[in-house]
Amino acid sequence: MSLLSVRGLTRDFDGLRAVDGVDLDLAAGEVRALIGPNGAGKTTLVGMIAGRIAPSRGRVILDGRDITRLPAHRRMRLGMAYTFQITSVFTGLSVAENVWLAARRRVRGAGLAQAVRAALARVGLEGRADQVAGDLAYGHQRLLEIAMGLAQRPRLLILDEPTQGLSEGEIAGFQALVRDLAGEVTILLIEHNMAVVMALAERITVMAGGRILAEGTPPEIHANRAVQAAYLGGDDAADC
Ligand SMILES: Nc1ncnc2c1ncn2[C@@H]1O[C@H](COP(=O)(O)OP(=O)(O)O)[C@@H](O)[C@H]1O
Ligand SMILES: [Mg+2]
Repeated sequence: MSLLSVRGLTRDFDGLRAVDGVDLDLAAGEVRALIGPNGAGKTTLVGMIAGRIAPSRGRVILDGRDITRLPAHRRMRLGMAYTFQITSVFTGLSVAENVWLAARRRVRGAGLAQAVRAALARVGLEGRADQVAGDLAYGHQRLLEIAMGLAQRPRLLILDEPTQGLSEGEIAGFQALVRDLAGEVTILLIEHNMAVVMALAERITVMAGGRILAEGTPPEIHANRAVQAAYLGGDDAADC
């Protein structure tokens, strides 16, 4: 059975259909990349999956349970965690405090400190636990957001353009982290760096104009004519 199923998910914004009848199934433990040109509807789709954006139509099913009407915090308790395109760390708090606040959504009591330490270690920020989050370099803030997601011990981790603004070295670290998590956590990764997508994803879903254009393994997507056309149609093939 799929961990996550989406059926006919649709969202209209003032006459614009940003997401148009999307069906999607994620198997437990898989790493799925979601790609597509700017404006394809990727962020809106995962916003509806996470409960941050209300669908105009359609359903979201987690582990066989219809969660379409559950608010975001209830979905978090069911094991969904996400980082969004815009960083959302509390800049006035320390790195550890940020992770502690996130961990508290899912983990209680004695396990809390351990969950914070483990999440920071996993992204390589254990040495910066007491630093003020706002003083971190941008790349480290993005890693902190991933630690905040991991501290919730998620079953499904949604990452919206996590490598945006990261250096080459930080991207390599991120790839190692996802490989380490693969199999343990189901990951839905919106990513525009195609090298990262091809290296990490078991399957790739391609969106364009609010719809699913193609879905398949990295080699299948690489060879797909419709996908090539969607990208070559723009003036920047890397802009996805
Ligand atoms: N809050 C909003 N209000 C109006 N239009 C929106 C809103 N959010 C997204 N859109 C529009 O919906 C479309 C899909 O956007 P988005 O989901 O952000 O795409 P992507 O993440 O693939 O770049 C775009 O045309 C965008 O301008
Ligand atoms: Mg987006």
